[in-house]
Amino acid sequence: MDTLNKLKQFDAYPKTLEDFRVKTWGGATVTIISGVIMLILFVSELQYYLTKEVHPELYVDTSRGDKLKINIDIIFPHMPCAYLSIDAMDVAGEQQLDVEHNLYKQRLDKDLKPVTDEAEKHELGQADDGETFDPSTLDPNRCESCYGAETEDLKCCNTCDDVREAYRRRGWAFKSADTIEQCKREGFTQRMQEQKNEGCQVYGFLEVNKVAGNFHFAPGKSFQQSHVHVHDLQSFGLDNINMTHLIKHLSFGRDYPGIVNPLDETDVTAQQASMMYQYFVKIVPTIYMKTDGEVVKTNQFSVTRHEKVANGLIGDQGLPGVFVLYELSPMMVKFTEKHRSFTHFLTGVCAIIGGVFTGQSLSSNIQTELV
Ligand SMILES: *[C@@H]1O[C@H](CO)[C@@H](O)[C@H](O)[C@H]1NC(C)=O
Repeated sequence: MDTLNKLKQFDAYPKTLEDFRVKTWGGATVTIISGVIMLILFVSELQYYLTKEVHPELYVDTSRGDKLKINIDIIFPHMPCAYLSIDAMDVAGEQQLDVEHNLYKQRLDKDLKPVTDEAEKHELGQADDGETFDPSTLDPNRCESCYGAETEDLKCCNTCDDVREAYRRRGWAFKSADTIEQCKREGFTQRMQEQKNEGCQVYGFLEVNKVAGNFHFAPGKSFQQSHVHVHDLQSFGLDNINMTHLIKHLSFGRDYPGIVNPLDETDVTAQQASMMYQYFVKIVPTIYMKTDGEVVKTNQFSVTRHEKVANGLIGDQGLPGVFVLYELSPMMVKFTEKHRSFTHFLTGVCAIIGGVFTGQSLSSNIQTELV
């Protein structure tokens, strides 16, 4: 019994007798205010606890052989789809004609409303699309002239495209579509005329090798001329090329929470005709690991823009159009998403309760003294 009585001395909170306790209005007010403060602090602490922690790490990228997916959605308000060609090349200057691509071109009218219901799938390296006449009326075994551009493996040019292809292989400019029977028949010039005041939206994705490269949107059919990539621009005057463009979306892989795609919603108005826009993109491979175990392999990028007038003079390296030149960074970022620690949350909550109670009892002590 004696030892038990001694234990009592350890009571840190000696109880006062009921008679000595006084409840005051001031005390009640303090209690209510501290209750509200406690609630606010608790809610903010809870909110913080429910957010996820993202932990970044930097590595040298040692992964190999992956593909790079380029998501594109760009509007050219003054560039008809029939004129626009899209090419992708990798670092060796090779045209990537075998890249897996799912690009669509949608004709837009002056108010940027779609002209046709369905967009046309675009083949890389081709400027025009859509056949306007029925080719089944012609003899399937015919062999038409290529107007002097015949080669060993392309002896017959039965369509306007064949003639353009033959010209392309020879490195000739395709100037006078009006005089070429195949093109007249298919309404090539007519199609160009018809779309004259239209715009074009290009959307979809490209899948390319994960090496540096570029892709571009430029007027005119492209071809290799003595190992230089050129576009034939003769079919329309350089003064009429308005490369105004709106990049609605451009990214190099999947999105993860908090990703910033710096080119999204970029609106560029061409002040002069026949402008060349170059976007120099540095791609940073990124891995995002979610708390549920999902791993998002994607890329972030930074970009700088350069623009100049491509006047098409000899010796001038420029070409009107929008060029995106990308390079890969050797460093890779890994983000790991984590839940916040529950014990930290508990500690926080205890600190709030304890702190507010202490403040409250202090203020009531002061009050008692005043009474
Ligand atoms: C191109 O079109 C835009 C309107 O979208 C216009 O403001 C700009 O002046 C045009 N540029 C040229 C060179 O015609």
